[in-house]
Amino acid sequence: MYYLGERCRTIAATVRARSPDVEDTFFPQDWKQMIVVEAVVERLLKVLEREGLAKNSKPIVFRWLLSQKLLEPPTERPTDPILPTTSGGNPGLQHYLKSKNLANGKIDTIEREFANITQTVPKSSFPNYPIIENNISIDVQRRDTIKIVVAAFRESKVAAKAEFYLTEFRFLKLQERYQAVQGSSEGFRLHLAQLLMRYRTIAPLCSGYSGGCPAHLFQTFVHHLGTSWELFASPLNFTLPNYLSAYNDTDGPFGSQGSFFRRFPEIVKSGGSFQLNPPFTEEYLSIATSMVLDALVDVCDSSLTFVYIHPVWPDLYGYRDMQRSPHLVRELSFAPKQHYYESGLQHDPQEQRVVASSAPSTIFLLQNDCARRENPISKEAISAIQAAFARSE
Ligand SMILES: C[S@@+](CC[C@H](N)C(=O)[O-])C[C@H]1O[C@@H](n2cnc3c(N)ncnc32)[C@H](O)[C@@H]1O
Repeated sequence: MYYLGERCRTIAATVRARSPDVEDTFFPQDWKQMIVVEAVVERLLKVLEREGLAKNSKPIVFRWLLSQKLLEPPTERPTDPILPTTSGGNPGLQHYLKSKNLANGKIDTIEREFANITQTVPKSSFPNYPIIENNISIDVQRRDTIKIVVAAFRESKVAAKAEFYLTEFRFLKLQERYQAVQGSSEGFRLHLAQLLMRYRTIAPLCSGYSGGCPAHLFQTFVHHLGTSWELFASPLNFTLPNYLSAYNDTDGPFGSQGSFFRRFPEIVKSGGSFQLNPPFTEEYLSIATSMVLDALVDVCDSSLTFVYIHPVWPDLYGYRDMQRSPHLVRELSFAPKQHYYESGLQHDPQEQRVVASSAPSTIFLLQNDCARRENPISKEAISAIQAAFARSE
């Protein structure tokens, strides 16, 4: 599972070197984005199939798309929010192909083909159906289920249609946050439709990467550690007052304050108590670890507390550094089946559930010197966190 090891150091350095104040200004591409991403995935899969690597090739392709996007250097121009614009040098893909005994020359060719497919996909040849506010319906289905239907018409016929379901809790939360950010509910339906389309587009890329901490665990963090920032989230799963998420264009109107990789260095400067539960992939975890450990050293005059949910992957780059860090207050261990996560699609009434984790997890509690002096973590806090993660509700 974790195979990048020291290579993650390079990835982390690349991401850290980015200017934190370069903000993305993307424009939602309505239906086209979904159609284009699907087509790109199909083509990438074909490349692997051609090499006799059809088995289990989907996770490889999805992971390549996500990690290659992370490796992208900063740019002044807006780039596609999902499809990477850089080529080659992906340690995860290279490692996988080597493990299948492919020669170096072949690996280079595949990396070039991957980049070529994502960068040259002729977007203009795909149909686009603009989302129009009047064609979005929102209905209460039954208690706790809100159904959202987005339709696009061409010559008075339905050209495309998508249905989404939200729990009433999530719907109200989105509505409330939208009004607070925008100052009115104008445009809510349109932005909601764009948000739901975006997360449906990436759902196959991310299934399994967005399992969340249950609400009562968040309450424990808030009560005992004063936690107010959720550093890896989406409008569809955030709990805390401040959160970061992957996409500015669709998530900003619902209160996201930007991407972790861009905003973190600036946000931690003013101190605070932060929860982070990144997608469980090597790239996300090692980069996040590297940035958290740096902040604990660099930020001296404001109090910093991190509650970091992590899989037990001891040979992942950064894991041992965290265990050995002078800023580690406690490492809490949780055995398989003895702690609980919310399912990754917790906004959907049919998927919403809390499930026992099949693998062990760790919570790292970390503080800089200032936080240790001013806001030390008490024994009661530690017992409360242990008890809360071990409960399903
Ligand atoms: C494991 S889930 C966390 C769920 C829940 N917010 C929690 O903290 O328990 C990881 C989340 O990170 C989000 N994510 C992905 N890229 C991100 C980025 N660049 N910045 C912030 N969040 C991101 C994913 O969309 C997903 O919702």
